[in-house]
Amino acid sequence: PCKCRRPKPGGGPRPTRLRPPVAHPEPHRLKSQTAQESQVPMHRKLFVTTALPYANGNFHIGHIMEYIQADIWVRYQRMRGHAVNFVCADDTHGAPIMIAAEKAGKTPQQFVADIAAGRKQYLDGFHISFDNWHSTDGPENHELARQIYRDLRDNKDGSLIETKTIEQFFDPEKNMFLPDRYIKGECPKCHAKDQYGDNCEVCGTVYAPTDLINPFSTLSGAKPELKASEHFFFKLSDPRCVAFLEQWTQDGKLQPEVANKIKEWFSVRTNPDGTTSEGLGDWDISRDAPYFGIEIPDAPGKYFYVWLDAPIGYLASLKNLLTKRGESYDAYMADPKLEQYHFIGKDIVTFHTLFWPATLHFSGRKTPNNVFVHGFLTVNNGEKMSKSRGTGLDPLKYLRLDMNPEWLRYYLAAKLSARNEDIDFNADDFMARVNSDLIGKFVNIASRAAGFLTKRFEGKLTNQFGAMGAAILADIRSESDAIAALYESRDFGKATREVMLLADKVNSYVDQHKPWDLAKDPANNEALHQVCSVLVNAFAVLTRYLAPILPSLAESVQGFVGLDMGKWNVDTNVTAIQPYQHLMQRVDVKQLDALFEPPPAPVVEKVAPGGEDIAPTIGIDDFAKIDLRIAKIVACAAVEGSTKLLRLTLDVGETDDAGQPKTRNVFSGIASMYQPEQLTGQLTVLVANLAPRKMKFGVSEGMVLAASHGDEKANPGIYILNPWPGATPGMRIH
Ligand code: 2FM
Ligand code: ZN
Repeated sequence: PCKCRRPKPGGGPRPTRLRPPVAHPEPHRLKSQTAQESQVPMHRKLFVTTALPYANGNFHIGHIMEYIQADIWVRYQRMRGHAVNFVCADDTHGAPIMIAAEKAGKTPQQFVADIAAGRKQYLDGFHISFDNWHSTDGPENHELARQIYRDLRDNKDGSLIETKTIEQFFDPEKNMFLPDRYIKGECPKCHAKDQYGDNCEVCGTVYAPTDLINPFSTLSGAKPELKASEHFFFKLSDPRCVAFLEQWTQDGKLQPEVANKIKEWFSVRTNPDGTTSEGLGDWDISRDAPYFGIEIPDAPGKYFYVWLDAPIGYLASLKNLLTKRGESYDAYMADPKLEQYHFIGKDIVTFHTLFWPATLHFSGRKTPNNVFVHGFLTVNNGEKMSKSRGTGLDPLKYLRLDMNPEWLRYYLAAKLSARNEDIDFNADDFMARVNSDLIGKFVNIASRAAGFLTKRFEGKLTNQFGAMGAAILADIRSESDAIAALYESRDFGKATREVMLLADKVNSYVDQHKPWDLAKDPANNEALHQVCSVLVNAFAVLTRYLAPILPSLAESVQGFVGLDMGKWNVDTNVTAIQPYQHLMQRVDVKQLDALFEPPPAPVVEKVAPGGEDIAPTIGIDDFAKIDLRIAKIVACAAVEGSTKLLRLTLDVGETDDAGQPKTRNVFSGIASMYQPEQLTGQLTVLVANLAPRKMKFGVSEGMVLAASHGDEKANPGIYILNPWPGATPGMRIH
């Protein structure tokens, strides 16, 4: 029984033992009814995944959070002696990746390989211990997806697959069916232009792409055409499926808030906007070529929709891992002891709690034991870290700034619970938790004791702890099962709080016994030895409690105290230490400032417009001095002896003294650009009050306006001005 009498944070009595979390109906739970049994845990066999990221972008902090959450859980399970296979892969298929690859001028295979090559730096950087990273385009996935499909199609109680002909928008230029997101047009309700194919961002109306006014393909600009095509459907509306999924989602395994939300999908109901929802609808699992994906068996030109083969990628990555190790995938999966868990974000719950279990179950396979859903991460109360807009905290920048990855692991752990709720990364909070809690309360315990042990006792510890020291160590050790239960149920925030409360106790023990005072008088040697030995032992236990979160620190501590920190074994005493080496730096506010400093705006070299600086400012009076007139080129001829000049005969609406129409003669250096007959009959602009100029070929009575680039080499063109229709000769330009 536990001797812990820790007060509740809010005061008042506290149960003598941390209560294990609410019933957690996993078939192979640790038995911990008796102390003896809990010493010999039943070894579990776990298959754990995180969601497979799309292979069209780098990781953002939302991915890293999910990986850290799952990694902590996995490391905890390994410490308990359980066998875990923790895998992930790139989610490679689908139209967006195919289109992005085309834009990048690569094959989709090359495109996703290039993305995959960038993964390691993040995973290593944040100490994520995946056993395998694979690809949904790997041969295992092609084979598994096709086999699972055949099993669904050939289900002995009746096929779960059916085909229906549907009409869809087709881009006649790109020769492909258009996913809704590649169709835009005018909103049928509010007539806002440029709205996406599924809903209007201006008025919020939800509609089908076929409702859009003047739809166009965002890929080619072409007007899409309606075209019929045969699609393959997974019959989710089949009564067998509905019954199975109602049971699977409502049997208590899912987080309550997740299960409640799912309940809505089964019932026929009236939505707030007056429309009715039908319950489970059939799921369209096919796409027509061209598509980057897996071809459907016996259906040439038809591919699995990416969301059909993506979760199968979990199995494919596992199979790839086991094959590399020379183990049998089939035997592994057939073991009834095997437990399967998926960590996912709240945006992909439907796929993992309806489509995925149904796919597995009706193809005769085992369904996951559970799906653990987390919320989104916001940064400094900022925008949601959505998949497409991963801004805010750049994980690679974090690493480049030499920020310790375990600060982030600790901070996220401290904020995470088992609930599907959003968490916020707050820079001030981050600094406080790392500097005051993690380092101030926990890491410092070691540094306060180690020096004395090394200098005064040759690094040897005593196991005579004194009454109070023994009590405090027993107290800390007695929390082992309770803290383990918190890890098991993914209540990492609570686990870190429990550890910090224990660290508080150790620190008040330090304050009471003041080793620095004891050290002043050799008469206190024994007491000093005792106190420091208690501290290092306490530190070793607390390190184990935090080891799933701080694997690298735990490894350093392992070298320091000479105990295996990779095991959840809190009862062994430390007998000797190695000289203490600094374990963890504090966060410097400058690092956080740098982390959130927006990237400098790209330096654009200032280029003068048109290759020439704008001339000094003039007043309107200066401009008024220039008399610009519309002129009609009534005749135009080459100038003999000049390759540059054309002779223009211009009508600017003038008359001579006798009242007869009068024209002007103007030479213009535009022969390189225009043939005389091109210009004859055209209107242009003349500087009509320019002093006449005597030239080799005659007098030029004005100058026509033409544009040219300041750098003639860069652009040798000369472009004569031409007014819009309606202007007539003689009109002044103001
Ligand atoms: O939402 C996403 O990022 C998907 N790529 C997740 C796939 S999870 C699994 F099904 F592969
Ligand atoms: Zn609208």
